Amino acid sequence: MIALKVEDLQHGYALPAGRLEVLRGLSFTLLSGQVLAVLGPSGSGKSTLLHLLGGLETPSSGEISWGAERIGGLSQERLAARRSVEVGLIFQHHYLLEDLTTLQNVMLPGMIAGDWSEVSAKSLLERVGLSGKAAAFPRVLSGGERQRVALARALSTKPRLVLADEPTGSLDRHNAELVFGMLIELAHSEGAGVVVVTHDEGLAKKTDAIMRLEDGRIVE
Ligand SMILES: Nc1ncnc2c1ncn2[C@@H]1O[C@H](COP(=O)(O)OP(=O)(O)O)[C@@H](O)[C@H]1O
Ligand SMILES: [Mg+2]
Repeated sequence: MIALKVEDLQHGYALPAGRLEVLRGLSFTLLSGQVLAVLGPSGSGKSTLLHLLGGLETPSSGEISWGAERIGGLSQERLAARRSVEVGLIFQHHYLLEDLTTLQNVMLPGMIAGDWSEVSAKSLLERVGLSGKAAAFPRVLSGGERQRVALARALSTKPRLVLADEPTGSLDRHNAELVFGMLIELAHSEGAGVVVVTHDEGLAKKTDAIMRLEDGRIVE
């Protein structure tokens, strides 16, 4: 099954100094259960790409489909509703809510979408090795533990697509490997397609496919 399809995606920004072309025509397909690593120098458009794929920003041109449906034709309301169920986001600025417990943070996307289960949230926490921390508040968690909660939260609605922007960027080697391994394992077992941006060539090798961005194009 196709999780994501991208057709001739282009995006740029109008700046005072002129137009900045960030993405110059990307096309690729991601299958369910497949993990795609996106590598590329800083400023090559990786975060921009993830924002477009998540429907958080509208591309200058080109088409993005979640499964078989093109998202370009959806209204903002419909897009937001679909995103909350179909897309799991693991973004650096997408913090855990400090006033909610670990378990509540994992259940939150489902609660917003009106369909959640404490049992499956607990089982996700168990799978990222945090069953003992269900009642804990984020402030007492380590960086690696917080990213594991973010991982469980992103998968809590059984999304067809997970978008992760340098999810291990702030972690030490051991925790980076642990979190990355869990992301791959959960994606494979849940059948979610994953696009993960990373700077780490070693981690990228563990995924099913690698895409390199340079000057707004896929170079490999
Ligand atoms: N909202 C914006 N307005 C103008 N320029 C932007 C905006 N967002 C990103 N850019 C520019 O687009 C380029 C790609 O940025 P980004 O996608 O964050 O790169 P990466 O994540 O690969 O480091 C950079 O030159 C950045 O300055
Ligand atoms: Mg970035």
